[in-house]
Amino acid sequence: MITRKQLIEKYLEFFRFKGHKIIPNESLIPKNDPTVLFTTAGMHPLVPYLLGQRHTFGKRLAGNQRCIRTTDIDSVGDAFHHTFFEMLGNWSLGDYWKKEAIEMSFEFLTKILGIDSKKISVACFKGDKSLSVPRDTESADAWQSLGIKKIRFLGKEDNWWGPAGKTGPCGPDTEMFIKDSSGKELEIWNDVFMQYNKTSDGKFLPLQQKNVDTGMGVERTLAVLNGLNDDYMTEVFLPIIKRIERLSGKKYKGNEKTMRIIADHIKAAVFITAEGVLPSNIGQGYVLRRLIRRTVRFGRNLGLKNFTGEVALPVFEVYHDYMDLRSNRKKILKDLTEEEEKFNKTLQAGLNVFNEIANGKSLSGKQAFLLYQSYGFPVELTEEIAKERGIKLDMKGFEEELKKHQELSRKTSAGIFKSGLADHSVATTRLHTATHLLNQALRAVLGPEVKQRGSNITPERLRFDFSFSRKLTDGEISKVENLVNDKIKQGLPVISNEMKLKDALKSGAQAEFGAKYPEIVSVYSIGDFSREICTGPHVKNTREIGRLKIIKEEAIAAGIRRIKAVVE
Ligand code: ALA
Repeated sequence: MITRKQLIEKYLEFFRFKGHKIIPNESLIPKNDPTVLFTTAGMHPLVPYLLGQRHTFGKRLAGNQRCIRTTDIDSVGDAFHHTFFEMLGNWSLGDYWKKEAIEMSFEFLTKILGIDSKKISVACFKGDKSLSVPRDTESADAWQSLGIKKIRFLGKEDNWWGPAGKTGPCGPDTEMFIKDSSGKELEIWNDVFMQYNKTSDGKFLPLQQKNVDTGMGVERTLAVLNGLNDDYMTEVFLPIIKRIERLSGKKYKGNEKTMRIIADHIKAAVFITAEGVLPSNIGQGYVLRRLIRRTVRFGRNLGLKNFTGEVALPVFEVYHDYMDLRSNRKKILKDLTEEEEKFNKTLQAGLNVFNEIANGKSLSGKQAFLLYQSYGFPVELTEEIAKERGIKLDMKGFEEELKKHQELSRKTSAGIFKSGLADHSVATTRLHTATHLLNQALRAVLGPEVKQRGSNITPERLRFDFSFSRKLTDGEISKVENLVNDKIKQGLPVISNEMKLKDALKSGAQAEFGAKYPEIVSVYSIGDFSREICTGPHVKNTREIGRLKIIKEEAIAAGIRRIKAVVE
């Protein structure tokens, strides 16, 4: 028997011993990367360093990273798919290469985890002409010299990984499989040799350094090591499954799929809510909404009602080592419950409408849009119910309806500054300008040593990371808040000017520590108060922002503080 805690500790200790520094488990929302919604792999926070930027911890890193993969939502329900999971990984930033990476993987599996090497099989990249990448004999040779007999060569569908987003580091990989107790081979670890950078025009260019990126799924590995053929029977799911059984009075056996979906989704929802995301109709908020509403719907199949808060409780115990979960517990439970209640109010009515309008055969785009707009059915939910019942849904028609609607609300929001209404894009823009004011206000109140270290904005809130050595006092927080609100009330104009980077810096414009800028940059000025290098968008006048409220101030690393704030 090996526990999650033991597995993580053994992994990190092993790689520490091999000269790796342990990096923190980062937020699920990628810092400064608006192109993806969630951190999808352990390497995600390391992209700039895989591309060649120097990491202050050195060239050998290891860590455990929380991840969300929404592409897997529809696969959840079998024994080993999850939307939320943890990934252990070790990284070489232009340091060791294939042979050493493979030797370390092998040593960890056999010596530290005690896996019989006869149970291990591997797959290597067979090469691909269209990518001009040859067969990976170097990896195969390394495995062979370690005594591994079963080596397969597979193509780019199986043994090529990345990039994580649309562009970025990627390369061939070698996967490790372990035979489970039923004789099935399960992949538990992947060593990726990131040697290429996929560019926006689809080219694969050699990177300036050869990197190794590995990923070991905690849930799957725990299942295999403990002789379980089902990730949901490991300690990271079992308490949630048990609670679902108790609340519903039904057994896991016979209800596996439904209970797995509920357990997976509630866990993912807890972690996303812990980031300060609220259910909404766009971005992370939409994923969260889908997860909660799907949970509620599947719960109904077990006769469960008003249960999300209850089912979520064991998640806090399983992951008691996550500070964000512990400190936000009350709010997370409240947010989940509120979304469930909201959905409950319209779910039955929506289902009735569904039954009425679907006439047993088909559902038009307009009808699906009605369910979305008036009954809060994420379209994927409508799609699912339609599929279950063999009803044809006109997805294209739905998308057209949605587009029409969005165009309308865009037009409304153009007039919004007068009416005081806000749609999401306006909300984000306001928060963005508020972030600039906050940045400057912090310096004014706390001193010039305050520097921006990260920023992340959703339509619901801003999140701002900055360097400062201690907790802010309540007095300081209100001073900062008041100063921002004074500037908002003064109705300062927001103006942008293009200039050379060095002129911008000379003019005293703020730049983010560690960020890379092009030669020509835009500098946004807010009256005489703030000047920052930025790409926008911003409001035209600070009066459009509303009132800023700081809702949280906390440490996220030594010398780095984080503020979360909303505008009202
Ligand atoms: N980034 C690789 C993966 O996610 C290791 O499988």
